[in-house]
Amino acid sequence: MKKLITFVLILCFSNFAFCQTSHTIIPKPKEVKFTKNTFEINANTIISYDSKASIALPTLDILQKRILTSTLQKLLIKTQKPTKNFIHFSHQSQIKTEAYVLSVNTLGVEIKASSAAGFYYGYQTLLQLLPSNVYGSSYQTGLKLKLPGVTVTDEPRFGYRGFMLDVSRHYFPVYFIKKTLDQMALQKLNTFHWHLTDDQGWRIEIKKYPKLTEIGSKRSESPIEGSSTNEGDKTPHGGFYTQDEIRDIVAYAQSKHITVIPEIEMPGHSLAAMTAYPELGCTTGPFEVKTKWGVEEQVLCPSEKTFEFLENVLTEVMDLFPSDYIHIGGDECPKTTWKNSAFCQDLIKKEGLKNEDELQSYFIRRIDKFVTSKGRKIIGWDEILEGGLSPNATVMSWRGFEGGIAAAKQKHDVIMSSSSNLYLDYYQSNQPNEPFAIGGYLPLEKVYSTEPIPAELNQEDEKNYIKGVQGQLWTEYIATPEKAEYMMNPRLAALAEVAWSDAKKDYPDFKNRLSTQFERYQYVGVNYSKAFYDIQFELIKNKTSDFAIKMSSNAPDAQIRYTIDGSEPTERSFLYAAAAPPVLSNSPNLMAKVFTKTGTSLGRQSAQPFTFSKTLGRKYTCVSEPFKHKGSTPLALTDGLKGVKSNFADWIGFKGEDLNVLIDLEKPIQVSRIDIGFLSDEPSWVFLPTSLEILTSIDGKEFVSAKKIDLGESTQKTKMVQQINAGFDIKAARYIKIIAVATQRASPDKKGRFLMVDEISVF
Ligand code: ACM
Repeated sequence: MKKLITFVLILCFSNFAFCQTSHTIIPKPKEVKFTKNTFEINANTIISYDSKASIALPTLDILQKRILTSTLQKLLIKTQKPTKNFIHFSHQSQIKTEAYVLSVNTLGVEIKASSAAGFYYGYQTLLQLLPSNVYGSSYQTGLKLKLPGVTVTDEPRFGYRGFMLDVSRHYFPVYFIKKTLDQMALQKLNTFHWHLTDDQGWRIEIKKYPKLTEIGSKRSESPIEGSSTNEGDKTPHGGFYTQDEIRDIVAYAQSKHITVIPEIEMPGHSLAAMTAYPELGCTTGPFEVKTKWGVEEQVLCPSEKTFEFLENVLTEVMDLFPSDYIHIGGDECPKTTWKNSAFCQDLIKKEGLKNEDELQSYFIRRIDKFVTSKGRKIIGWDEILEGGLSPNATVMSWRGFEGGIAAAKQKHDVIMSSSSNLYLDYYQSNQPNEPFAIGGYLPLEKVYSTEPIPAELNQEDEKNYIKGVQGQLWTEYIATPEKAEYMMNPRLAALAEVAWSDAKKDYPDFKNRLSTQFERYQYVGVNYSKAFYDIQFELIKNKTSDFAIKMSSNAPDAQIRYTIDGSEPTERSFLYAAAAPPVLSNSPNLMAKVFTKTGTSLGRQSAQPFTFSKTLGRKYTCVSEPFKHKGSTPLALTDGLKGVKSNFADWIGFKGEDLNVLIDLEKPIQVSRIDIGFLSDEPSWVFLPTSLEILTSIDGKEFVSAKKIDLGESTQKTKMVQQINAGFDIKAARYIKIIAVATQRASPDKKGRFLMVDEISVF
């Protein structure tokens, strides 16, 4: 390998020619080979195509317009390939659909493909080989369209590369939907899943049921962001897409090789429809378009009236959307109203069903049958798997990867959309000044690390059921296009690479390509998060101290500068060096920031208050394996970094298990108080424990109970941190055991129930 690199370098430099060795294409192509040649697009360059490549004409047209915008040169389009100075589109039937080969040499550029999509993706890659200014929306003086000599041979890993936008919780204007489609196309994403209906608003015009939009598209108010009382903002919210607008958007998406999949939620998340047509409910109503976030108890009644309504709605939907898939939701359907309904109980008996869960499955099967009869396929959230499905149905695995694994084993197609890795409404940074988000913690690296084919699927035929991957943007806390873009970018770029590029991941390489992606965002005019430049702090032991602070940042080749007095770091503040990290003493408020080597500040300052206690840096073991959100820190419970209410970054969690942790203080010391924090976040199924016991021991064998606290079942609805300060008579102890019993109260779907804990401080 070394020899090969040396050879390439000699080849490059021996001609004193410019020779590029790396690229900034996102998503990363399958193969990129540079040569010593270069080519520059100029006023005399001809765009040409061979007769079989006429399917590429729309792409030729946008290429012509892009060059005109960039350089004021309108290149001619011809059917004859000139001998030199061309950008030629050539049809090659052996190349797979969506795949392409792009080559640049001294004579010109050639894009080979067998499909319109392949030509289009070749064009997108061509743009990414040019200076980022080419994405600008206006002419830029002196812009040179110089290309490196290269052959790019490329094809996608997955046929389904999706992004979902929720327009129910907040309506987004048509221009923004198109701008989002533009962003998707740039990154070779090909499926836009449009979440059009939910409890908080119905956003698609249905001619047969005008009240769906007259009434169902409006709510009287929304929750105030971050309010602990779930108080409303007294501001009406509404909006919907007319059928003409929808047709326009679908056509716009098609021109960018994007399929739009509509989602009509059922039988849960349907309060907006029930408000417009109360006869769809099991009770008489009246209903009100939901003004709070969360799961609504009122759901569609499985009556003939409801099925007639849904079939009529879906008929209009299928007329508007030519997609193979029609998304029918199917998630989070509480069964209370069905349990209390005489009609539902009779139906259960009549159909020989066991219970309300089977009634849900009956509901989905009927809709499945209807959609299938129209030559389409249903796709739904992973709850639709419960109770049997037609082989035709596809499952979107959102509650982790497990639903997808089960579905693939049952021979259903699967789209991986796990909340753990692909919910772009979660926090992407643990910094306190991060814009308000729903919770969770999903930094860029975690999106990038997603592997859509889990190791559990080890048979080739099982793996083939994983058709693709999708990122979700739920918009409870996203009311504006700017914030939506902030949450999407650059995580959408990581998603694109997961979806398109092969399974071999290389995060450092992705990071190297990201600063160019940031330039592209700036030229295109899309907002993006700079959380990439935030600093991560970690308590470590090194030669000089048990309490050294390691700092790291994502930014390649950057310097970290920090202060310990709470002031904002400048290019003259202390320079962080891994060999001599700062040592924690007293409780410094570390502030750190990333700078280029020439002193330009790149991101924002990162702050990190530490808590001192006798547990700081002490090792511990847990009876059940916890999951850690920051992932890499083994001392998460004793690292001095307290979990905060807003995001999951510092918490460690137990799924359905108790906390049973043993801390080793390394020698017997006097202890008289333990502080411990628990997170309560009911919408994310994070519940407080019901009891807490603290035991101490000198030898790690004999334990005595120091304190027992009965906490009872919490009725806490809103997010909060329960800090417990447990004092007891002074004891000498080397070992401390803490047992917190998890609630038996199930989460709405019984799947997830989390106990989250951080930090344990001993005094
Ligand atoms: C979902 O997040 N309820 C699909």
